[in-house]
Amino acid sequence: MIYITRRATFSASHRLFNPELSEEENKKLFDKCAGPNGHGHNYVLEVTVAGEPGKKTGYVLDLKELKRILSREILEKVDHKHLNHDVDFLRGVIPTAENIAVAFWKILAPVIPSGRLHAIRLQETENNTVEYRGEIE
Ligand code: NI
Repeated sequence: MIYITRRATFSASHRLFNPELSEEENKKLFDKCAGPNGHGHNYVLEVTVAGEPGKKTGYVLDLKELKRILSREILEKVDHKHLNHDVDFLRGVIPTAENIAVAFWKILAPVIPSGRLHAIRLQETENNTVEYRGEIE
């Protein structure tokens, strides 16, 4: 089994806020991240596909093709957007890195043309990264 990874970056804003809770509870849970106007991050996304190299191509999946898929399915929808308001597939979701990674998985897993989606890593800040491998559903 070979694991190949494509990296992509995007910038987006979000607000961590649970509409089912009071302002006070949100403030307690999310602190500065609950600020009413949101704040931004420069996200780094790494998508790993696992598989065996094809006999004809030697590729698990052509990384140029993975680049195109990431642009079309993810980056065009989230780059320079407000994740709470502008992104259909995040509607009703608190846009933590965890929830964003799960949402990306659901979109990408069915459209990977060869190999299978193995992991999604999403770095929100230099010190904070989440990784999702699709176990929880
Ligand atoms: Ni944040």
